[in-house]
Amino acid sequence: MVRGGVRWMDEHVNDPFVRRAKAEGYRSRAAYKLIEINERDRLFAPGQLVVDLGAAPGSWSQVAAARIGAKGRIVAVDLLPIAPLPGIAIIEGDFTADPILAAITDALGGARVDVVLSDLSPNLSGIASVDQARSELLSELALDFVVHHMKPKGAFVIKAFQGSGFPALLATLRKRFEDVTSRKPEASRDRSAEMYLVARGYCVSGET
Ligand SMILES: C[S@@+](CC[C@H](N)C(=O)[O-])C[C@H]1O[C@@H](n2cnc3c(N)ncnc32)[C@H](O)[C@@H]1O
Repeated sequence: MVRGGVRWMDEHVNDPFVRRAKAEGYRSRAAYKLIEINERDRLFAPGQLVVDLGAAPGSWSQVAAARIGAKGRIVAVDLLPIAPLPGIAIIEGDFTADPILAAITDALGGARVDVVLSDLSPNLSGIASVDQARSELLSELALDFVVHHMKPKGAFVIKAFQGSGFPALLATLRKRFEDVTSRKPEASRDRSAEMYLVARGYCVSGET
């Protein structure tokens, strides 16, 4: 369905998660995906350091910020601008580009990350094989980020699509983390092929 098309607009206006997001001050309905995942998987704790890859407009960062509290820190990165959020370091750019990776590393100040969130979506071309390949590349690069920056025992939430690259992503996560589960939160529209992999207990010595 085309974002902004008539059917999309109709569903969007009548969507209970869109209404709730407006009422509760979240920047997007996506907030409820992470809220549901966190209720089941207990990702966040006060004082943690979180990186949010593909963070715009910022609702996952809002959810994380409320759970890690004033002593926690979030670095939020997106190609698109993100309006300021209290206490959150925002970096605008492509997280796979060297200068942006350097800016993220600077913002982390040498610290290792407790939780990496990746709700990254590529720009869709409409050609399924191209979109699948783009999405898989983003997943690989997000995982590469994790390998370089995550603290032992850290957690990683990544959006994934059932497709040819899915088994390989799952297998790699299972090598690197003690526990990997898949989640399809209620706010993830039924017909969408998206799901989330929740990986906990990062093992630094795992092999990719
Ligand atoms: C579904 S949205 C994220 C929604 C967000 N979790 C929220 O709750 O507000 C996916 C985002 O991934 C971003 N993105 C895609 N490729 C990226 C890249 N290479 N670097 C940074 N951001 C990227 C897009 O710009 C888009 O804003």
